[in-house]
Amino acid sequence: MKRRLGLLTGALTVGTVACFAALAQDAPTTPDGTPTYIVKDGQVDKGTYNGYRRFHATCHTCHGFDASGSSFAPSLADSLKRLSYDEFKEVVVNGRQNQGATGDKVMPSFGLDPNIMDHLDDIYRYLKARADGALPGGRPQRIGG
Ligand code: HEC
Repeated sequence: MKRRLGLLTGALTVGTVACFAALAQDAPTTPDGTPTYIVKDGQVDKGTYNGYRRFHATCHTCHGFDASGSSFAPSLADSLKRLSYDEFKEVVVNGRQNQGATGDKVMPSFGLDPNIMDHLDDIYRYLKARADGALPGGRPQRIGG
């Protein structure tokens, strides 16, 4: 169910789903409470759009535009293919020190940064849409403008 909702692209005409989506248009979640996104005709829900903006205010300096990665940090469009929502939150809240040969790559902790913590769900929405291939790079449009 989680995946089906995430991948909804324009088929919002199905009765119950349309009803759920209409209620949850601003910041949709799956029935188990995981943040998810709506991409419809290339436009996104408000939460996902906010996530796009928040990501490109802070995270892109290391993780690259469109979450496509850089020499500093991995592509989160790839990482979110395997990280669960809880795993994602754990890394962003606590940060992480690279255990590899050089050990010089540090993921900062954002646990005390309200600019990130207050928008973690939306950042996840955006990154998950990128990881699922539902959203191309660049600035998305909001559903309803
Ligand atoms: C100063 C650079 C920097 C910034 C800014 C940064 N990160 Fe990171 N991030 C990293 C590095 C480096 C890693 C890889 C750490 C490692 O190798 O374990 C990482 C790893 C991650 C991971 C785990 C990826 C995986 O494949 O396991 C997530 C999730 C993540 N970052 C999310 C974010 C989010 C969301 C933001 C913005 C709020 C952000 N990061 C900002 C440097 C950064």
